[in-house]
Amino acid sequence: MSASKLSLTVTMPVARGDRGYLCRASVTPPTTVVATAEGLPNLRVGTRLTADAGGFLVQGVTWLPGESGGPSTAMYLVEAVRGSGPGRLECSIEREGYAMAWITLSDKGSRGQRVDESGPLVGALVSEQLVLNTVQGFVIPDEASQLKGLLVDLALNQGIDLILTTGGTGVGPRDITPEATLAVIEKRLPGYERAMTAASLVKTPHGAISRAVAGTLGQAVIVNMPGSPKAVAECLAPLLPTFRHTLEKLQGDPSDCALLRKD
Ligand code: MTE
Repeated sequence: MSASKLSLTVTMPVARGDRGYLCRASVTPPTTVVATAEGLPNLRVGTRLTADAGGFLVQGVTWLPGESGGPSTAMYLVEAVRGSGPGRLECSIEREGYAMAWITLSDKGSRGQRVDESGPLVGALVSEQLVLNTVQGFVIPDEASQLKGLLVDLALNQGIDLILTTGGTGVGPRDITPEATLAVIEKRLPGYERAMTAASLVKTPHGAISRAVAGTLGQAVIVNMPGSPKAVAECLAPLLPTFRHTLEKLQGDPSDCALLRKD
């Protein structure tokens, strides 16, 4: 993807931070369109479209129905990272760093009845260790179907690399995070789970209550964590040094670990 080029036609002036849709030229653009493009490659969240006259960051991907029953077509939600006026832009396509999402499972939080701080804390802690091109956050109720759908969309459609959930790992009647995660992951990461439990038990015997699960789905690593900010910091600590190497291996790095790494 790093060598790809893209020709964009910007149809209205965009300022840094403006959000809009980047569509295939064959699709009738919605009213908020800021740019149209032909022959789009498979863009993922976190992809940058870099041009001298302006630039965009892909923040989301969705699908438009095909015309007259034809095939559906991808539509990209982009954010302007540099302003540009109308006209043609020759963009190079780059993706540096990793895309991260946090998901907080909280019935009250999803209804706006409490502010959960654990999600933003996860984003802040991970960004100290890993170069992130984008961080997205979600607060959803403790509903297994919602969590499963979001995990699958973020991992397989959006191209998010690292998905960290907070909350819902205990034994309460509404705690479904581990079951929903187990239902969608492909390769389990028991070492991640043990590392979190070990780090937690040093701090509190209640660490034994969390049933947090970790694993991979497609090119993404998914990790559950308990819901309190204190628990998040404690559980992340042993994992932060290994996220990058895990993602490298998951995404196809063929190099010999024994020859390369000392950490
Ligand atoms: N792990 C760590 N490291 N620190 C904590 O404070 N709290 C525990 C446990 N794991 C805790 C922890 C408690 S009190 C509970 S009930 C479970 O996580 C489940 O929390 P959750 O339902 O918010 O996921």
